[in-house]
Amino acid sequence: MGKIRMAFIGVGDMGSHHCIGFDRLEECEVKYICDMNESNVARTLVELANSKPVICTDYRELLGKEDLDAVVISVPNYLHREVAVAFLEAGKHVFLEKPVAHTLEDCDAIIEAAERHDRILQIGLVYRYSNLYRRMAKELEQGRLGDVKLMWCKEFRDPFPPTDWFYDKSKSGGAIVEKDCHHFDIFNWMIKAKPVRVFASGGQHVMKQGQENRITNSYSHYPAKNIADTSIVDHAFITVDYDNGSKANLGLCMYLKPRNLMGEGLEIGLIGENGGQMVAKNDKTIDIVGGEDFTKDHLEMDVTSDSIMGGHTGGQTQRIEFIKCIHEGKQPFATAQIGRNALLIALAAEKSILEERYVYLEELTS
Ligand SMILES: NC(=O)c1ccc[n+]([C@@H]2O[C@H](COP(=O)([O-])OP(=O)(O)OC[C@H]3O[C@@H](n4cnc5c(N)ncnc54)[C@H](O)[C@@H]3O)[C@@H](O)[C@H]2O)c1
Repeated sequence: MGKIRMAFIGVGDMGSHHCIGFDRLEECEVKYICDMNESNVARTLVELANSKPVICTDYRELLGKEDLDAVVISVPNYLHREVAVAFLEAGKHVFLEKPVAHTLEDCDAIIEAAERHDRILQIGLVYRYSNLYRRMAKELEQGRLGDVKLMWCKEFRDPFPPTDWFYDKSKSGGAIVEKDCHHFDIFNWMIKAKPVRVFASGGQHVMKQGQENRITNSYSHYPAKNIADTSIVDHAFITVDYDNGSKANLGLCMYLKPRNLMGEGLEIGLIGENGGQMVAKNDKTIDIVGGEDFTKDHLEMDVTSDSIMGGHTGGQTQRIEFIKCIHEGKQPFATAQIGRNALLIALAAEKSILEERYVYLEELTS
């Protein structure tokens, strides 16, 4: 097989990273970019070293292209289904950003289209490809801590980028769907049991519906903006119960200013049945302490070789593995099914906040 010929649908904050990352891989060529935001297209083009893509503003023009093998879709969540199903039906392999979709119905339609047309469908659950979280999983596989009984995630950060769709729950699915599908997937991956029910409490402390919210963000290229129409929570505590009795908790704060300055960033930790603890901080380090052999290990992980500037750890590895999956005709590690499992927890959490009760995942699927 020659080079994989690729199109990029949406080159905002995330899509531009993908386009630049794939452009660096010898095995593929950036053939097309589709986005109606001219400045986002221009920002991306200047970073491309190896390709001269054709630009268009309507993805439907690309559906029938014969010189196109695969697409990377990084449009807002409410457009995932429309765009992904169209390309899967057109016979193209798809790399789709997380969450799979903002609703379960849309998620299932995407999965169904991928199965019907027998295409590769990889979800941008980038942590699945990160040296750091893969090492955590490996330590667990080697039985270092026994089964994981308790797990937590502290995501205390600055707001989403100042772009309207994030703040509109009908477009993003809500803050928990948009952001924490990553972390629920890590819970599922490490705990290796079936999530059964979710209890969540959350609301709007600072960024409130109807008030002029000045939104600033530390990593996006979009300038600060006032957003009054915000229907998403800006904080939550979420508890997930698994069928083996294991429990996980996630704390979300979206209003730190100017960003998390505690130096620890994202924290993901767990306790095993042998009393050992393992904690990842800042997407960079892992500490393993206690347990059977009174271990005390501090690991500084290499989290640059698996990414490119500006993306999450694992960003470039996930692209390399997408190309490999196409070549080998095998489904990826970050399947749409694991994306669906994480989405279910997020949707249950959003519902639990509204209805002030435990939400059983079964309720969402029956
Ligand atoms: N994996 C991660 O860690 C991660 C990080 C950030 C965002 N994301 C995901 O990536 C996706 C995009 O997020 P973002 O932060 O880049 O948003 P963004 O708003 O910066 O970019 C979206 C881009 O899509 C374009 N677009 C909108 N409708 C389009 C259409 N019909 N056809 C072509 N282009 C269209 C917009 O013009 C914009 O340039 C979302 O699903 C988000 O959840 C993933």
